[in-house]
Amino acid sequence: MSNYLDDFDDVTKLVSSFYDQFPYYRGGYGDFLSDSCQWYWSLEKVHEVYSSVFPSLKRKFESIRILDAGCGTGITTNYLAHQNPGSEILAVDISGESIAIATNRLSSSRGKELCRVRFEQIDFMKIKNQEPFNYINSYGVFNHLKDPLEGFFALESLLHKGGIAHVFIPADSGRWLIRRAKEVFAMLELDCNNNGLYLAKQLLEDLPKGNKLRAKFEENFNHSFFSEEMFADMFLHPLETDFNLERLFCLIKQTSLTFLGFSNSGLWDISRLLKGDLLERAKQMSKEKRWRIIEKLDSEIGFYDFFLLKE
Ligand SMILES: C[S@@+](CC[C@H](N)C(=O)[O-])C[C@H]1O[C@@H](n2cnc3c(N)ncnc32)[C@H](O)[C@@H]1O
Repeated sequence: MSNYLDDFDDVTKLVSSFYDQFPYYRGGYGDFLSDSCQWYWSLEKVHEVYSSVFPSLKRKFESIRILDAGCGTGITTNYLAHQNPGSEILAVDISGESIAIATNRLSSSRGKELCRVRFEQIDFMKIKNQEPFNYINSYGVFNHLKDPLEGFFALESLLHKGGIAHVFIPADSGRWLIRRAKEVFAMLELDCNNNGLYLAKQLLEDLPKGNKLRAKFEENFNHSFFSEEMFADMFLHPLETDFNLERLFCLIKQTSLTFLGFSNSGLWDISRLLKGDLLERAKQMSKEKRWRIIEKLDSEIGFYDFFLLKE
């Protein structure tokens, strides 16, 4: 494992040390392959889904190179290894502690027998001298970049022609609770450490019964699987960039990448929200405009999970 810490700028160092303290995340996934291993971890399945619309995706690669950009503690890397047997995977993260957990996770997983997996502590936007990748996964990373456009340019330059990027970014509109709570924590000057974490949780738990913030917190976040590092990631992160669809598409359009679609396409189907003439009217619009209407009407949309193609 190489160490590129000296190359990190101040913001990257800040994010890296946050994840050294709260690696995302420590938990094991037990029977994770049957429970949460979705089709989109498999490049072959992604090709199947989109090849009717983009015929160039019918062409198969002889060998597959995958990049897990911001692999955290290797949960996503493990999914990728299981779902793309025979491929070569480079998994990178700026946090040394996360990489150590990821290495450990893979060493005790069948994933290591299925693929050649290599970990490196490096900023994915600084990767150089690598053969291009056929599939790049970046899950929950772009919202922690100082300049997300730089991240999209990196995808563009690291992808093979015909390669696909799978990106997950939290969406601003469904995160109003988190944003409001974060603003309060910042006003109260809570630090990104265990004490800050304790005080933040206490604040939410001690709000009066019936308070909407408290109710939402209890409903969504007070489960046993919602670990300390998940709480910290959500409420105390030192660098969080908000995204809405307009901003997302504005960034993507500055690259040559083609937007293939969302992994959860049903959510982005306007017929679940509009009827009759209004539905017909919306159907005449561009997809992007329709999606923006959906985003405005459904205030619970909490993330964008989508694919980009380098044609
Ligand atoms: C929320 S965690 C997600 C981890 C993993 N992808 C998952 O879904 O389980 C975000 C991760 O991105 C990493 N990260 C942030 N910026 C990065 C960058 N420029 N290059 C590589 N990793 C980065 C962080 O260190 C952290 O481990």
